[in-house]
Order: sequence, then structure tokens, then C-alpha cells
Amino acid sequence: MLEKIDELLVEVQNFRSSAKDEIEQFRIRFNGKKGVLNDFFERFKEVPNEQKRDFGQKINSLKQAVNAKLEELKPSSQSQIIVEKEDLTRPAFPLELGSRHPINLVKNKIIDIFKSIGFAVADGPEIEDDWHNFTALNLPEYHPARDMQDTFFIEQNPDVLLRTHTSSVQIRYMENNEPPMRILAPGRVFRNEAVSSRSHCIFHQIEGLYIDENVSFADLKQTIQFFTTELFGKSKIRMRPSYFPFTEPSAEVDVYWGLNSETDYRITKGTGWLEIMGCGMVDPAVLKNVNIDPDKFSGYAFGMGIERIVMLLYQMSDIRMFFENDIRMLEQFKTL
Ligand code: DAH
Repeated sequence: MLEKIDELLVEVQNFRSSAKDEIEQFRIRFNGKKGVLNDFFERFKEVPNEQKRDFGQKINSLKQAVNAKLEELKPSSQSQIIVEKEDLTRPAFPLELGSRHPINLVKNKIIDIFKSIGFAVADGPEIEDDWHNFTALNLPEYHPARDMQDTFFIEQNPDVLLRTHTSSVQIRYMENNEPPMRILAPGRVFRNEAVSSRSHCIFHQIEGLYIDENVSFADLKQTIQFFTTELFGKSKIRMRPSYFPFTEPSAEVDVYWGLNSETDYRITKGTGWLEIMGCGMVDPAVLKNVNIDPDKFSGYAFGMGIERIVMLLYQMSDIRMFFENDIRMLEQFKTL
């Protein structure tokens, strides 16, 4: 009887099939109520005591081999069922095409406008050091203007921070290039501010910088006017005196939006004017910090928040929408 079990063990191990009914026959033959295994267990009583141990071990190994084989053949029998159910000729589900994020749409528009008048795109790191984000921009330690930008610092090393503005790219670019230079630096910036419908701890800016001989405030004004005309179709601008540590003189730019509709009244608070960016002539102290001779070169810089411009262009009321990834909002930009 022991040899018989050995033979069956080999038979089980060699059994191969992917046909459902063959596998089922195999299962019934070995595992069924009147199957081989049960038959052996029945006959166990008749086995003389001194052989019981060997015999028991053999039946158990046969039982294990049968179960292992059934397990092994299971996946193929499952995939067979799936193949039978699926209609492989059915056309595929339509593939949803994504769309560009409104921030990127507007960013690219702005880049195109400035590219057409000779600006190149520059890039800088989002994790900055104190020098590029503050000190070189004429914002030394303890300067009160640092308070204008609540900053995320790294506790272990206060020299490392998340950049609060893209103005840091001005410094990096001027350190590594010679004038004349004309760059646009778009990117993500971070401020330690409470999130609300109007402000967010993460947002985007675009920085502009032009350094050459004899660059004047008139050049700045004319460039910005060209920009507002191209982007908004509005050419009436005004520049209000302002303060930034890295520019002198500094100005805030307002564009005349008009007062033709109720919305115009609402978004301009009844004035017709909308603030869109900060700008000014690069402070000679900044040029010195990057080893550019302020007696030979001058330049202008400007910086604007992209979210604000997107919200103006598309009449969006809540800045948090940009970061929620709600498909119902994003889909509306599919055709743009
Ligand atoms: N960095 C300023 C801010 O984040 C914006 C700015 C103002 C940038 C004037 C400039 C500039 O380049 O000239 O508030």
C-alpha cells in the first residue's frame, strides 16, 4: 500500500491542466467524498500498529501534494473565467484628457508676452538661503521690512528657508551672468500665513529683471504698459510711490479696469483701478552685492502674484480653489 501511495504522489505532482473540467475531475478523484484520500483514511484502521506511523506520514504528504496542486492550478482557472466573461471586442472606455492648470495657463501667457520683447526665463530653488532671499536684496538681518514677509524657517538652521518671493532669482541670476540681462522668473513661493479666500501659504509669482547701461524708469513704465495691454487689453496704468528694500525708487502698478459693469465696481471697490504688481529701479546697493558696477549699469525689476491675476482674468473668488484639485473647477479650463 505504501508503494501505491508513492505512485499516486508522482501522479499528483505531474498533473498539469488548464481545463476546468479536468481540474474538477482531479479534485473529485482525490479530495471527493469517495476519493482516494478518504479511502486511505478509511483503511488506516486496518493497518497494523507498527506501520501506522509510516502510513500516516505518507497519506499526509499525499494530501498536502493534492492541495498544493489544486492551489497551483487555481489562478489559471480564475483567469479562464474572466476571459469567458469579458467581451474583448468592446470599444475601450473613453480616455479623459487632462487640461492645463489655470496657474500654468496664465503663467505661460505672461512668459509669451515678455519673451516677445526679449526676456528669457530663469529659475531658482524653492529652498533658499538667507543671503539670496533677504540679505543680498538689501534686507539685512533685523531689517523691519523682513516682517512684511512671514517666513518658514528651518528650526535647525535659520539660514535655510522657503523662499518668500521670486526676487531671490534676481540675485542668483546676477551673480552668475553679466549684463545686459533680461529675465523673467516664475515660481512657487511660501509664506507663513493663515489660509483664507484671499491669501495662501503657497502661491506663485513672476519676477522680472532688466539690467543694462542707461535703463530708465521710462523703460520700466513702457514695458509694463505693453504687458497690461497684451494681457488684459488695458493700456491705462498708474504708478503709485511705494517701498521695497531692493528698489529705489519703488512703485505699485495699478491698471485701469474700468467701471462698466457691476463686477468692475465690485472688484475695484468702486475706483476702477486694480493693483497688479510691485516694481522699481534696482537699488545700487543690490547691484554692489552681486558685483555689478552701479555707476555703469542700472536696471528695473518687478514682481507680481500669478493667482491674483488668474482670479482677475477668470473672475474667481477663492484662492484655495487653485490647490484643491477639484475636477469640476479644472475642467472649465479644458478649452483654453
Ligand atoms: N518681492 C516683492 C514681494 O514679494 C514683489 C516685488 C516688488 C518684486 C518690487 C520686485 C520689485 O522685483 O521690484 O512682495
